[in-house]
Amino acid sequence: MASSKITVPEIIAKKDKEKIAALTAYDVLWARILDEAGIDIILVGDSAAMIVLGYEDTLPITMEEMLLFSRAVARGAKRALVVGDMPFLSYQTSVSEAIKNAGRFLKEAGCQAVKIEGGQEIAETIAAVVKAGIPVMGHIGLTPQRAHALGGFKVQGKDVSSARKLIEDAKALEEAGVFSLVLECVPKELAAYITREISIPTIGIGAGAQCDGQILVLPDLLGLFEAFRPKFVKSYTNMAETGRKAILAYLEEVKNGLFPGEEHSFKLSDEVKKELGL
Ligand code: KIV
Repeated sequence: MASSKITVPEIIAKKDKEKIAALTAYDVLWARILDEAGIDIILVGDSAAMIVLGYEDTLPITMEEMLLFSRAVARGAKRALVVGDMPFLSYQTSVSEAIKNAGRFLKEAGCQAVKIEGGQEIAETIAAVVKAGIPVMGHIGLTPQRAHALGGFKVQGKDVSSARKLIEDAKALEEAGVFSLVLECVPKELAAYITREISIPTIGIGAGAQCDGQILVLPDLLGLFEAFRPKFVKSYTNMAETGRKAILAYLEEVKNGLFPGEEHSFKLSDEVKKELGL
C-alpha cells in the first residue's frame, strides 16, 4: 500500500472540514486520471451493469464481473480510497455470504472498502461485515437494486413517513458502523438534516449541496452516457460528441488512404532495401 493512500479514518475526519469528492470508475485508464486529479474516493459502482455492460438495470451484474472491474481500478488508484460496490444478491442471502463476498473485494481486488445498499433491514448484516474488519459505505434513498420494490427510479423521502424512515435508516447505519453514507435522490432539506444528525460523512448524488461530499457516475460527468440523463447530473464536457468527431475523422482518413502517414510508419534502412531489391 502506498504511504499516501487515503484511509477510512481520514475520510471520516473530513466531515465539517473539507468536502469529499467521489466519482465512479470501472477501468485502470480512468482510475489513474481520477487518482492523479486528487479525487478522494473512487467507487467501482454496480452502475457498470448499465454503463459498461449495457443492461437495463444493475441487477444482472455478478460478483466475478464486479471483481474484474475493481481489480483494474485498484491497479490505477495509488492515492484514492477504492470502494467496491456489492452486487445484487451478494449480501442479502445470509450474513456469512455477505462477509465472504465483501472480503473478496479486499482480498482479491485490492479495494479498501465495500458499498452496501439498504437501511434498517440490512443494518445487522452491515454490522457483521464491519465487525469482520471490512469498512462499509452505506447507501440509502434511491437504491437501484430495489428499483422494482420502490416502483422505479424515483426521488425518495418526499412525504413525512418516508422522510422519517430515511432518517431512521441513516441512524441505524451509523450505529452499524458505516464510515460514510451515500444519499441518492433525496430532497436537499432532508439530506441536509441527515448530514447534521449523523457523525459520519454523507455523500450526495441528487441530494443537494449540504452533504459532506458528492459523487457522480463518471460517464455522466464526461457526457459519455447518452441513454438517459437524470436531473441531478451535470456533464462538464461532451465526450460522446468529441469521440464521434475523432472516429469520423479516422474513418475518412483510412478510406482516403491518408492514415497512416509517414510519421506513423516504420522504415527499412537503405542497405536492407538494396539487398532486397526494393
Ligand atoms: O453504482 C453506482 O454507481 C452508485 C453511485 C450512483 C452511488 O451506486
